[in-house]
Amino acid sequence: MNKKSLISITDFSKAEYLRIMELAADFEKNPNQKLLEGKVVASLFFEPSTRTRLSFETAINRMGGRIIGFSDAGSSSVSKGETLHDTIRMVSNYADLIVMRHPLEGSARYASEVSGVPVINAGDGANQHPTQTLLDMYSILKTQGTLDNRNIFMVGDLKYGRTVHSLLMAMSEFENPIFNFIAPEELQMPHEYKMFLKEKGIRYFEHKEFTSIISEADIVYMTRVQKERFADPIEYEKVKNVYILRNCMLNNTKDNMRILHPLPRVNEIHTDVDSNRKAYYFEQALNGVFTREAIIAHTLNLK
Ligand code: CP
Repeated sequence: MNKKSLISITDFSKAEYLRIMELAADFEKNPNQKLLEGKVVASLFFEPSTRTRLSFETAINRMGGRIIGFSDAGSSSVSKGETLHDTIRMVSNYADLIVMRHPLEGSARYASEVSGVPVINAGDGANQHPTQTLLDMYSILKTQGTLDNRNIFMVGDLKYGRTVHSLLMAMSEFENPIFNFIAPEELQMPHEYKMFLKEKGIRYFEHKEFTSIISEADIVYMTRVQKERFADPIEYEKVKNVYILRNCMLNNTKDNMRILHPLPRVNEIHTDVDSNRKAYYFEQALNGVFTREAIIAHTLNLK
């Protein structure tokens, strides 16, 4: 088997991003392509998930594969003290592919090193969420017609938000992106990602509010302030409701502008935005099925 894991978004080249977009469009036209018949996929979720786990499982079912795994580490032998090393060594004997979410940064890379089969990172702590990024890119491509020359606003928890970290790196491969980072002081985009952009000569700007500049955006990428990443609950309380996008803020936005959010949301997008045609987050979540079918097909070299 061709062992090609997806751990960081930078594991794939620009040509591979474009190949995934092409495959996702093909799966969107025909989701029930039985390319996984006779194959077993392990879905190991050591951290809660709705969309990522269920869209992967939908993708695997639509492709005719079988699923083993758990959605709660408490129901596995991890609760008896089994290490990640031993869990992955064992599961890679049972499955052709492992999809794993884990709260520790670096856990997915480690799993790929000890696994005999490819590993897809479904989110490792605050580090990376590459499959979310590929579905975000597919959503940008579908709504904008291009991945080039986009002005992308990233709003909310830019410190712990693994989805914005992965998206920033991937979009930097395309022509002339501009990034606007809107975050409270405590949740600013980490230095290493700003350095990454600087070294590539990509423009970025930092703001404390965005109502006065939202008319410039092509994409407004909202994120949840992630309570589970805060050691001190008082720190979370201080920042949890700093940014709330409301329908009245969208009056002077570009026609092509779309609002994305990896979901789940808490308060950061008011429900009065949901009926605005620029709200795209539920369609974005649906795109996750087609994109994850594409990622599986590419990773296992099925097409
Ligand atoms: N976007 C995302 O990762 O959602 P879940 O946590 O529900 O999987």
